[in-house]
Amino acid sequence: MTATLIDGKAFAAKVRTEVATHVARVKAEAGITPGLAVVLVGEDPASQVYVRSKGKQTVEVGMASFEHRLEADTSERALLELIDRLNADPQVHGILVQLPLPDHLDSDLVINRIDPTKDVDGFHISNVGLLGTGQKSMVPCTPLGCLMMLREHHGSLSGMNAVVVGRSNIVGKPMAQLLLGDSCTVTIAHSRTRDLAAVCRGADILVAAVGRPRMIPGDWVKPGATVIDVGINRIEDGGKAKLVGDVDFDSAAAVAGAITPVPGGVGPMTIACLLANTVVAAARANGLAEPQGLTV
Ligand code: GUN
Repeated sequence: MTATLIDGKAFAAKVRTEVATHVARVKAEAGITPGLAVVLVGEDPASQVYVRSKGKQTVEVGMASFEHRLEADTSERALLELIDRLNADPQVHGILVQLPLPDHLDSDLVINRIDPTKDVDGFHISNVGLLGTGQKSMVPCTPLGCLMMLREHHGSLSGMNAVVVGRSNIVGKPMAQLLLGDSCTVTIAHSRTRDLAAVCRGADILVAAVGRPRMIPGDWVKPGATVIDVGINRIEDGGKAKLVGDVDFDSAAAVAGAITPVPGGVGPMTIACLLANTVVAAARANGLAEPQGLTV
C-alpha cells in the first residue's frame, strides 16, 4: 500500500471534542442544553444499531438525547403529530427521522414536516435549496464529514476534478454541491454513466457512494488521487461477516495518494457531523455566535 490512510475515526473524535466545547458554551451563554430527538419507526436491525450509537454519543458530548421508538405499523398521522410536537418543543434543537421508513409512510412528506431549522439531516427541501444556492443551511451529515476530511487533507480543493459516483439525495447530490462550493470541477456519475472506468480515472477526488461492495477497482483510480469510500456493505468472506466499502481497498490503496478505510473512515464522521449540526442548530436558535469549524 502506498496511499496515506485518512483516519476518520481519529478525526471524528476530534470533531466530537470540538462539539463538546461548543455544547458547554451554549449551556454557559444561553442556559440551555442542546437536545437531539431521534425517531425510529419499526425494527430494522441496522437502524437500531445506528440509533443506539447516536444516542450514546449525543450524551457523551453533553447534549440531551430523546429517543422515540414507534411500532412498524404506526400511522402517518401519528408520526406527523409527533414531529409537530418535537418542532414545538424548546428542548429539542435537532430532529432526525431514521430512514428508510416502512413502505406505508411517505418519507418526503414526513421529512418536509420537520422544522427546517431543526432538520439536522439537511434533507428538508428548504435546506436542499439553501445548500444549492450557497446559502446558510443544515448540511447532510455524511457529505459534510467527507468534505471536512478532504479539506483537512488538502487544504484548498479549488480547481480539482471531483467525481462523485452515486446520485442519492442523502449523499451523492449534496456531496456534489459541497465540492462545487469549494470550487471543484464536479461530475456526478451513476449506474447509467457510459465508460464509468474512464470517468473515474479523470478524478483527483473520487467519492464512491453507490452501495455495491468493492465495485470500484484500483485500475479505475488515477495515480495519486484521493479516494473517499462512503459504502458500508456487509458481505460474507470465507464464512465470516465482514464490512467492506464500494471501493476495492487493497487494489485502490496501491495507486491512490490517500484513501479512507471501511470501517473507520466516513462512518464515524457521519455521527460526529450529526452532533455538530445539532449544536449549530441550538446556537442559531438562541442567537449565539455560529460555532466555528463545524459548518461549511
Ligand atoms: N439512514 C441511513 N443514513 C441515514 C442518515 O444519514 N439519516 C437518516 N435520517 N437516516 C439514515
